[in-house]
Amino acid sequence: MLSIISAMDKNRLIGTGQGLPWNIKEEYQRYLATVKGHPIIVGRKTFELSGKDLQEEKVFILSTSQTGDNYFSNIEEAIKACGDDDIFVTGGAEVYKLAMPFADTLYISVIKGEYEGCIYFPEIDPNTWTIIQHEECPEYDYYIYKKLGN
Ligand SMILES: NC(=O)c1ccc[n+]([C@@H]2O[C@H](COP(=O)([O-])OP(=O)(O)OC[C@H]3O[C@@H](n4cnc5c(N)ncnc54)[C@H](OP(=O)(O)O)[C@@H]3O)[C@@H](O)[C@H]2O)c1
Repeated sequence: MLSIISAMDKNRLIGTGQGLPWNIKEEYQRYLATVKGHPIIVGRKTFELSGKDLQEEKVFILSTSQTGDNYFSNIEEAIKACGDDDIFVTGGAEVYKLAMPFADTLYISVIKGEYEGCIYFPEIDPNTWTIIQHEECPEYDYYIYKKLGN
């Protein structure tokens, strides 16, 4: 199974290009707890910004400019390399877009308030995705989506 996990504001903003637009500890801790121990697929830029926070996870990095043991130039090869375990795709925007057709679950935190930035999550098509869980937290709303027909 392949899941996407992301935090966004109500306009689907996810980043400034240099990091997250917000600093919400509780939400970030929840993200780390959710992906803990699972294989992770991440874009080269996000890995350089926040890869150090992933310590117990096997990390598979998508890049066309760098090579190495954990680097892949193709998402399908990265998925294959992850094996049968539950895989999490942790961004950023370029990699979310590549992963959407392969994902069956989205874990989405919608951060309250408005922020500035320039990196956005792809559109979540209501004809493709349905909400199966919603939880309201003080600083964000947490949603789990499943792909229809899966
Ligand atoms: N709010 C959230 O939940 C969240 C989560 C993650 C990231 N972010 C934010 O998102 C921003 C970064 O996102 P981003 O979209 O700019 O970058 P990104 O998706 O993290 O990484 C982009 C890089 O991935 C590689 N790549 C892209 N398409 C590829 C393909 N088809 N095959 C192989 N490699 C490919 C390229 O690396 P090369 O250049 O090496 O070829 C590309 O430069 C940051 O601001 C970060 O903080 C937010």
